Amino acid sequence: MSSKLHVMAVFGTRPEAIKMAPVIRALTEDPGIRTTCVVTAQHREMLDQVLELFDLKPQVDLDIMRANQSLAGITSRVLEGLSPVLERDRPDLLLAQGDTSTAFAAGLAAYYHKVPVGHIEAGLRTEDRYDPFPEEMNRRLLTRIAEMQFAPTAWARQNLLEEGVPARDIYLTGNTVTDALRLILEKLPPGPPQDLVALEPGQRMLLVETHRRENLGAPMREICEALASLVQDFPDVALVFSVHRNPRVREVVIPALQGRERIHLLDPVSYPDLVRLMRHSCLILTDSGGIQEEAPSLGVPVLVLRRTTERPEGIQSGNALLVGTDGQVIRREAARLLQEPEHYRSMSQTASPYGDGQAARRTVEALLHRFGKRATRPEEFHPGS
Ligand code: UD1
Repeated sequence: MSSKLHVMAVFGTRPEAIKMAPVIRALTEDPGIRTTCVVTAQHREMLDQVLELFDLKPQVDLDIMRANQSLAGITSRVLEGLSPVLERDRPDLLLAQGDTSTAFAAGLAAYYHKVPVGHIEAGLRTEDRYDPFPEEMNRRLLTRIAEMQFAPTAWARQNLLEEGVPARDIYLTGNTVTDALRLILEKLPPGPPQDLVALEPGQRMLLVETHRRENLGAPMREICEALASLVQDFPDVALVFSVHRNPRVREVVIPALQGRERIHLLDPVSYPDLVRLMRHSCLILTDSGGIQEEAPSLGVPVLVLRRTTERPEGIQSGNALLVGTDGQVIRREAARLLQEPEHYRSMSQTASPYGDGQAARRTVEALLHRFGKRATRPEEFHPGS
């Protein structure tokens, strides 16, 4: 029997892979830890891109993605698929990240096998159990299941404390997305992303990404209409839309925007290319959580296409604004940023309220501490450090 601490990291979608990758790297580098990497492949193509990028080689691939998959289908296939793996490997801890159905079902499977769970990015909340759906419930349930909570920010930790989570179970690490972003920024070529999208000289670029279940259908149609008229109103603006693989996103976005002047629809680009696009854009409109976290580090303002956000830090730092999906509000707020330099300056200060690039290290140190292999807790993340 090996005396190494055995950690099983489970993930399945692109954002989980991006945020888990720095942790897996740090786990693998620690000689006292044995790491098993399990992918559910809730997303196939979009996950595989990230595995290749970070050179992650999963030991187990559950390959659960189906066309038009339902939440019940994802959850049950993860439970069924992971159970024999847990039975066979019996890790000391299972690590899940965030709030996807993969993360929740992996946590539940671990609980059924009495394997302790560590939750990365714990404590994010909106006050609405259906928004975002089903992510809000996924993460609340994971909080109840997990025995170690890796809170990305002080606000997230406070949420956990208010729900009765013992302080000793919470480690304030920062968000691992900043670790991933820094790793990628080091490798990016300089200059505009001309190979991805042909921009005219002097053109200002807006970047759009939206995929949330609450926005599918009518809200997404309204977003697209607002974007189309915005581009018409500003002749020096080009819009780049990274269109998610979900057919329910594509069936709205493609007919509404394809073929229009200065609108470029792209298939989901690789993570480094997305960062290049973000870095070059003057404004980002999105309902994505990860992009809300990355954009402040790049000094690009974000209009959040949602009614609520579990990431208030970017709003408080002045880098993001909640605009929902009302077309008029989207047009008004985007136009203000495009027309009022002072307002634009105030929203484009570079800030890192979410992380300092050390979250993965702190996560590993916390694990070693918890399992008695390190005397002290890791130091806590403080924004601006
Ligand atoms: C999921 C997560 C969401 C996360 C998002 C990131 C849940 C409930 N939701 O939402 O929290 O923000 O991922 O992208 O876990 N598809 C493909 N190829 C791919 C990826 C998806 O064809 O590479 C299709 C699937 O067949 C599926 C649809 O897209 O039918 C939607 O995927 P699903 O995982 O159900 O939910 P997302 O909306 O992607």
